[in-house]
Amino acid sequence: MNNFSVGMAPLLEVAGLSVDYGLKGVPLRAIEDVSFTVRAGEAVALVGESGSGKTTTAMSIAGLLPPNARVSSGEVRYRGKRLPIDDDAAMRPHRWSETSVVFQGAMNALNPVHRVLKQIAEPCMLKLGMTRDEATARARELLELVGIPADRGSAFPHELSGGMRQRVMIAMALACRPSIIIGDEPTTALDVITQAQILKLLGKLRSQLNLALILITHDLSVVAESCDRAMIMYAGRIVEDGTVADIFTEPKHPYTRLLIESIPSPAKGKKILRPIPGDPPTLLNRPSGCAFRLRCPFAMHVCAAEDPRLDPSGRGRVACHLHRSLTQEQKVAAHA
Ligand SMILES: Nc1ncnc2c1ncn2[C@@H]1O[C@H](COP(=O)(O)OP(=O)(O)O)[C@@H](O)[C@H]1O
Ligand code: SF4
Ligand SMILES: [Mg+2]
Repeated sequence: MNNFSVGMAPLLEVAGLSVDYGLKGVPLRAIEDVSFTVRAGEAVALVGESGSGKTTTAMSIAGLLPPNARVSSGEVRYRGKRLPIDDDAAMRPHRWSETSVVFQGAMNALNPVHRVLKQIAEPCMLKLGMTRDEATARARELLELVGIPADRGSAFPHELSGGMRQRVMIAMALACRPSIIIGDEPTTALDVITQAQILKLLGKLRSQLNLALILITHDLSVVAESCDRAMIMYAGRIVEDGTVADIFTEPKHPYTRLLIESIPSPAKGKKILRPIPGDPPTLLNRPSGCAFRLRCPFAMHVCAAEDPRLDPSGRGRVACHLHRSLTQEQKVAAHA
């Protein structure tokens, strides 16, 4: 690949990624053939119910998969280069310097016995080789960047509110000047107002630092104002991918439609959340064919027999037999 094409490559490419978890020696597929790209400064969302494979996808990209996970196929490329995602030690130079992760629930991720300034300064010393004084100055700068007065750095985590702790986590994630931030449900444990403030902060940092953002959430409503694109995951696969505008105005996959309908909308007088009936499958009971078919109001005969591929559709992609271009004969067979 020449320099020109490297320059043109997306920042991040996830290509045909499948990951298994070993359970009592048996490999179970958690994500299957996941493919997408992220450009510099772009904000994409990974959305789906609990267990749909969002965290597994994120941890693969950051090289943080647990020991019982195995990448069974596919790869992740960063600036055109393949990442050693299944080798923790080899991923270390990349992690935090290029891709950082902000996890849900900062209280568990922060060390309760150290002041937050020290916790932010540490990666600056370890990863950037700064002296203690330089790292402290950088940590103060980072605190201000995430909207915390630098003097609050002397606080212990338990002395800060949930929102402030999440800001500290974001400051830590930014310490080594990464190009990509992955937020794995970064606002889930917070109240609605604090959640909006953290999303606004991520949006501000994104444009200020030209950061790419991969926002993982089970809540489609948080995506509307914070992301350019959304990928909907179900049972380990991407089932729809499109711009946020297209996803909200013209959702194609029945699961996406139901997810949108389940968002409460007091403005429209629809205050009651309409949950999607049924439960998502586990790794052990994935149905044959389309994994959504037992909950899908449009399921057809073909849906039990054939797993729909994620095909291009309009400006996005969708995996649903309703959107395949079928011949007349196939359409009759599908409904038989
Ligand atoms: N370490 C693990 N060992 C076995 N199964 C796991 C492990 N981590 C996650 N899983 C399973 O993999 C599937 C995907 O999980 P996950 O990626 O955490 O989904 P999400 O983040 O969308 O909730 C789930 O069925 C989950 O139970
Ligand atoms: S493939 Fe069939 S079951 Fe699956 S979402 Fe489409 S219509 Fe529903
Ligand atoms: Mg998760």
